[in-house]
Amino acid sequence: MVNALVVRSLDEIRFWSRIMKEHSFFLRLGFRSEDTQLVNEAHTFYKIFEGIEQKSHSLGNNTDLSAIQQFNNEVYSAVSHIWSFKRKVLGLILTCQLPGQTNYPLLVDHISREANYFRNRLVELNQGKLEPLQDAIIDENVFFLRIMAEHAKFIGHLLDPSERKLVEQARDFSHDFDQLLYQARDLDSMRPQSQSAPLLNQFLDQNRISVKSLRDFKKTARDLIEQCKIKSIIHPLLADHVFREAERFLEIIDMLEGALTGKGHM
Ligand SMILES: [Fe+2]
Ligand SMILES: [Fe+2]
Repeated sequence: MVNALVVRSLDEIRFWSRIMKEHSFFLRLGFRSEDTQLVNEAHTFYKIFEGIEQKSHSLGNNTDLSAIQQFNNEVYSAVSHIWSFKRKVLGLILTCQLPGQTNYPLLVDHISREANYFRNRLVELNQGKLEPLQDAIIDENVFFLRIMAEHAKFIGHLLDPSERKLVEQARDFSHDFDQLLYQARDLDSMRPQSQSAPLLNQFLDQNRISVKSLRDFKKTARDLIEQCKIKSIIHPLLADHVFREAERFLEIIDMLEGALTGKGHM
């Protein structure tokens, strides 16, 4: 008998541990060579999340629920630590103690919010109580729309300024997602009256259209960067990373819509 909590836990950990591993890599790339302490800390997190990722793939869907709960707790602790590390780095950057390092403060804040999201998922899974669907629809979208809006901003700012057309496209996506985010927050403040099936359904449909087109833009950018066809300071792995996060958001939208229309399950 396969337990849904085991399946969900492994799915979340497989996706997000790879993401956390890559965040450690991006942080390390951005540090100055003299910041050996920070470089080492980032490398330690890389190894920790690499280990978690490997373990998550070695466990199957018929793993004992209690073993999974214990694994969730272990991962929770690692994610809490990387969250603190990211916030510490943000503090150092914002107080100008790392002049010349190359990660944007908003990017460091962004990756700390992703860690916090992952941490909350693990808590929910271990408590065995998932958020009511109507709340999950709004909360997941408020979270991910902001993430998508910021990806567009990062891409726009890390492309070479001479890539004028691509920079313009990134700016358009940034604007589009800012608008969608405001709409989501409006729906949020109109809770619970706004949580009718037709409104939520339309909300998901509208967001899906924009996320698909941003996902396609990221895929194109990733391919162009991999083939060295465009000028930028975007690491190929970062391009793939933000592409995968858009794919994740699309999967979540589909899952939420499936649950809302009764065709799927969460
Ligand atoms: Fe990320
Ligand atoms: Fe992200």
